[in-house]
Amino acid sequence: MLSVAKKSRVNSRLVLTLAAGLVCGFLSACLLINVTRDMSHMIYWFPSVSHRDPHHYSQLEREAGPSVEVSFHGADEDFHKGEDKLALELAQKVRVLCWIMTGPKNHQTKARHVKATWGKRCNILLFMSSEADPSLPTVVLPVKEGRDNLWAKTKEAFKYTYEKYKDKADWFLKADDDTFVIVENLRYMLSAHSPSEPLYFGCRFKPFVKQGYMSGGAGYVLSRASLARLVEIGLPNRTLCRQDAGGSEDVEMGKCLERLGVRAMDTRDPHGRGRFFPFVPEHHLIPNHVDKDFWYWKYIYYETKDGFDCCSDSAVSFHYVSPNMMYVLEYLIYHLRPYGISHKVEEINSGSTGRRLINR
Ligand SMILES: *[C@@H]1O[C@H](CO)[C@@H](O)[C@H](O)[C@H]1NC(C)=O
Repeated sequence: MLSVAKKSRVNSRLVLTLAAGLVCGFLSACLLINVTRDMSHMIYWFPSVSHRDPHHYSQLEREAGPSVEVSFHGADEDFHKGEDKLALELAQKVRVLCWIMTGPKNHQTKARHVKATWGKRCNILLFMSSEADPSLPTVVLPVKEGRDNLWAKTKEAFKYTYEKYKDKADWFLKADDDTFVIVENLRYMLSAHSPSEPLYFGCRFKPFVKQGYMSGGAGYVLSRASLARLVEIGLPNRTLCRQDAGGSEDVEMGKCLERLGVRAMDTRDPHGRGRFFPFVPEHHLIPNHVDKDFWYWKYIYYETKDGFDCCSDSAVSFHYVSPNMMYVLEYLIYHLRPYGISHKVEEINSGSTGRRLINR
């Protein structure tokens, strides 16, 4: 009898200790989680820590790039003279208008660096904003700023482009102010296609639209025929294109273009490697860099490999590129040359235009 009472006292002490331990453990775990979350928040806001491989626009919000002009050694026009003969020829035949989605907060911190780097290679470069900035300059669209208005802004931007430039370019690229585009490779890919066909190109995503849609951040390009359909037939018609400002810009564009009979194209190269990318090269190159639950794996239209098979040697675009990284890419792509290695451009295997142009 006594022993039973003793045992039960021991038991209740054990339970008490256990419970106290659990509570303590739980509390300290909570504390730890909160502290880590706060710390990551601090790191996130700490301006000197940059995101090498950002996956959200907010991670680039505080990146501003160099405050002074970066000098290029091509400035005296003879550093790489003659190397770009073929590219310049192609630029006459495959005319690309690039319009950059930007806003007042980003004019000097992001858009300026697009203009200083890849933007200068477009036949026509436009910065779409809601405020004037003569240094870029910007096109002032009658829209409100903010992510809830991106679709409205996109519609206005394409309308403006069509009205002012429909005969001045063959292809019309929409890119963000944190997209980096290798314009020569874009022209090379497009040279196999006709701008009078209703086509559009980009990084193809699977959900929401039957034929898929093109990621907004990686940039997408419409043929002249697609632009005409969009502006003349699609945008004024409520059953074809969403009329209000809301929705995801790229998904709404995808739905609208599908209803207009504009084909979403496969932009992979003959090896099945992609050309348009929604993240920086590091994300795509390094195996298991992000976990398998990451939305991107569910969205991609084509099965993609990691490692160097991820990305075409004639890649066209990368997204979430910080302003500093724009200059790094500019250097790596257009200046750094390994001595003694010349490079051959791979042939495009579809259509004959590309081949003809390249063999000239
Ligand atoms: C809008 O598009 C639908 C579907 O193509 C068509 O049936 C309708 O006639 C169009 N409306 C107008 C006003 O053009």
